[in-house]
Amino acid sequence: MTTPTIAFLRSLPKAELHLHLEGSLEPELMFQLAERNGIALPYPDVEAIRAAYQFSNLQDFLDIYYQGASVLQTEQDFYDLTWAYLERCAADGVVHTEPFFDPQTHTARGISMATQFRGISRALADGEKQLGISSRLILSFLRHLSEEDAVVTLQQALPWREHFVAVGLDSSELGNPPEKFARVFAQAREAGLLCVAHAGEEGPAAYIEQALELLKVQRIDHGVRCSDDPALVERLVHEQIALTVCPLSNLKLKVVQQMQQHNILQLLERGVRVTINSDDPAYFGGYLLDNFVAVRDALEMSREQAVQLARNSLEASFLDPASRERWLNELQRVAATAA
Ligand code: ADE
Ligand code: ZN
Repeated sequence: MTTPTIAFLRSLPKAELHLHLEGSLEPELMFQLAERNGIALPYPDVEAIRAAYQFSNLQDFLDIYYQGASVLQTEQDFYDLTWAYLERCAADGVVHTEPFFDPQTHTARGISMATQFRGISRALADGEKQLGISSRLILSFLRHLSEEDAVVTLQQALPWREHFVAVGLDSSELGNPPEKFARVFAQAREAGLLCVAHAGEEGPAAYIEQALELLKVQRIDHGVRCSDDPALVERLVHEQIALTVCPLSNLKLKVVQQMQQHNILQLLERGVRVTINSDDPAYFGGYLLDNFVAVRDALEMSREQAVQLARNSLEASFLDPASRERWLNELQRVAATAA
């Protein structure tokens, strides 16, 4: 078995399919935006923010994450946030990204949908022009809020329909099953939107099944708890349903106690279309390439497995077929020639 070098991992054309823009807010930028907007942060400096990033579970993290997002106020703030993430993509060999944003986190603070969409979309367009990184934006509903709130959010977002391709579902999973959002996902599908949902991160395998059956999602975000149900794993393999797995996130939020216990490569070998993603990199200690390296080091990932993970990310993306084919060919070329 050949161990892939970092240079090899970087050189593989990859898509990132599970990234919360608000989760890419680095403490340095958080401080800069707080100062620009005259907001007082409950931390004296960047080191104190980083030191606060110790989590026992998903809710611990979400409390800090929503607080951090409060520095985002203007169109330029959303632009700067998105642009900083795209620069990380360029450094890591990410050629295509499908980021989430959580509009309810911002509309609840009086920040309009227009401000959010204008800032994010302008940065994504510049990313394509200046960095050659394509993107498709995903609007994610907060599952700890009511379905009615999500319905209102969808209505507010539909005038911006050409700026996003899919809806997602995130935030506190336990106690907020996919079935709670069946109606709003049906409305989204009627508007021609694709669907994804976080399921089986902290919640049970049954939530993955619900997301497939009731929300009719194209992909499952996280999904690592599928291993509790062999029949479900069989279905994921048979239907080639992608899981957007986030290894460093799973470690930081104690979904796994040690990276050595992570099931990502077992699922890969079983034939599940797993992908590697960074989730909230500013909070969890690394971007996409860091996640590849963490899996390599803990689980002895081979070059072939790395290439398969990159291939899965392109195949599971919402890219148009011609672009997907072009990147798959490029991946094959790089994998065959890179040292
Ligand atoms: N929002 C941002 N990151 C999340 C995660 N890992 N799970 C659920 N909601 C999130
Ligand atoms: Zn997530």
